[in-house]
Amino acid sequence: MNKYARSEALMARAQAHIPGGVNSPVRAHKGVGGTPAFMRSGSGCRLTDVDGNSYIDLVLAYGPLILGHAHPEVLAAVQRAAALGTAFGAPTEGEVAMAEAISERVPSMEMVRLVNSGTEATMSALRLARAFTGRAKLLKFDGNYHGHGDAFLVKAGSGALTTGMPDSPGVPPGVAADTLVAPYNDLAAVAAVFAAHPQAIAAVFVEPIAGNVGLIQPAPGFLAGLRRLCTDNGALLVFDEVMTGFRVARGCYQAICKVKPDLTTVGKVIGHGLPVGAYGGRRDVMQMVSPSGAVYQAGTLSGNPLAVAAGLAALRVLDETKAWDRLEDAGAHLQAGLEAIFERKGIAAQVNREGSMLSVFFSAVPVTTLAAAMASDREMFRRFFHGMRDHGVLLPPSPFESWFLSTAHNTEALDQILEAAAAALD
Ligand SMILES: Cc1ncc(COP(=O)(O)O)c(C=O)c1O
Repeated sequence: MNKYARSEALMARAQAHIPGGVNSPVRAHKGVGGTPAFMRSGSGCRLTDVDGNSYIDLVLAYGPLILGHAHPEVLAAVQRAAALGTAFGAPTEGEVAMAEAISERVPSMEMVRLVNSGTEATMSALRLARAFTGRAKLLKFDGNYHGHGDAFLVKAGSGALTTGMPDSPGVPPGVAADTLVAPYNDLAAVAAVFAAHPQAIAAVFVEPIAGNVGLIQPAPGFLAGLRRLCTDNGALLVFDEVMTGFRVARGCYQAICKVKPDLTTVGKVIGHGLPVGAYGGRRDVMQMVSPSGAVYQAGTLSGNPLAVAAGLAALRVLDETKAWDRLEDAGAHLQAGLEAIFERKGIAAQVNREGSMLSVFFSAVPVTTLAAAMASDREMFRRFFHGMRDHGVLLPPSPFESWFLSTAHNTEALDQILEAAAAALD
């Protein structure tokens, strides 16, 4: 019997009118093969697909659902907000409360502008950094993902000092030329890029934990070194915490690494599954944003009342339940269990983790660079993915995506994941 018959039929239908059948590329399973399961519903840490298969979800919509699917307090907040109207095109109290909630938790974000996605947040922060510094160039890191804005769709060409080449057709070479790329965790390379482009770099954008190549933690001193280099060279340091924001700590990763960026971008958790993003930072910089300043940025649905209500409810529940301690415990339990299984079975694997974000690389050596991630055994990951799915656990369909836990992943669910992992590797 085909367990995925309805999903396969829907995928065939989808291909006719949606490019590749999906609205975001990773969902198409190109990294692991097979047909993606089309989902019908989610509750807590579990998902049910259109064929009635049930899964423990380690994707969590790629990070936002830190309290799990259909959390009652988030749902109630959205329903209350929806009953009052879905959008006004006028300011609302919720937006003020959200900006206050972010600033209170993340002191570097003295002022905040709400947008609709992480992509919008990074694009807007880049325009602002360029305006503030009067410079054009951006320095980013190989393998860091900042959404699909043109300027960010560039990775290293022939080395850190070379001018960027676009990753995607449609990105004009002129735009890519202003994007410089250095290897993640390589401070000497960053210093060399600054030396090669004096007075030209507006901002360094970094995922303080790289979460879009699987998970790679910053090397000791890397983020502090970036801070120093940016200050010395008159560039803004921008932490892209769209993934790590409010997930790894109440004050985002900057509260853990104790490095203060000039600007920060967030998203995901602050909408808990509804479309939202935000950028914020130094008051003197943010005051340049329209209408208090001249840097134009706008949005019909920015600060949407449903998204804001969901996010505020999520932030409140996270505080009330001391969620980050529990998420750390859950992450540690899963990591230890996975490492024990890999060791017992003689499988070379690395579990990289920060709190409730983790990823598994099938690699005999520690994975601290993009090159090491790319060198991991992708075929092994493909088999592991399908084995886990067949045993009722949904992983992200690529070794280059982080896994996420929610507060709904209780001990029973974690033990089921570990049983599935043991069985998937038999
Ligand atoms: C670090 C980071 N920045 C930006 C983005 C883009 O966010 P969005 O997909 O909401 O546009 C993502 C998405 O995964 C991300 O992980």
